Amino acid sequence: MPSELRFVLILTGIATLAGAASVFGIYRQDAAQARTQAEAMTGGHVDAGKAAMARTNCGACHRIPGIAGATGTTGPALNGIAVRAEIAGVLVNNPGNMVRWLRQPQQVVPGNGMPNQGLTEQEARDMAAYLYTVKK
Ligand code: HEC
Repeated sequence: MPSELRFVLILTGIATLAGAASVFGIYRQDAAQARTQAEAMTGGHVDAGKAAMARTNCGACHRIPGIAGATGTTGPALNGIAVRAEIAGVLVNNPGNMVRWLRQPQQVVPGNGMPNQGLTEQEARDMAAYLYTVKK
């Protein structure tokens, strides 16, 4: 192989690696920013919300990105819940309404398939924080 060609190939390789690294860096930065924003909006903690959702088994009824074993199909999949306009088709999607829904879905839509689960205000805020990181 001519040495010029080898040089070009090496440069292309370096550029590709640098590009991949910067995309990964941006991705990580976005994830960190999404988390900070979700926690500020809700007064909850993303990791605590994730743990509380696993503990209360929301995944028995919902597909929830990032929650192991959350593959239920009784309720709607929660993909992109952070960026949807409405909650359960009846509430504007904002943190206060999300907490209200999570704590008392039966008061919001009587008779719907999601039971009140006796969540504390903080548990609901933590879960809401997690849900507001679920943008896809
Ligand atoms: C027994 C099944 C069941 C369980 C357990 C359950 N849900 Fe639901 N959930 C539903 C159903 C059914 C709906 C749809 C209600 C409606 O649209 O009227 C729903 C709706 C929702 C919505 C609104 C979704 C949308 O598309 O607007 C969110 C958010 C939600 N659930 C989160 C949770 C979380 C978090 C937990 C755990 C604390 C949980 N759910 C536990 C059945 C369940």
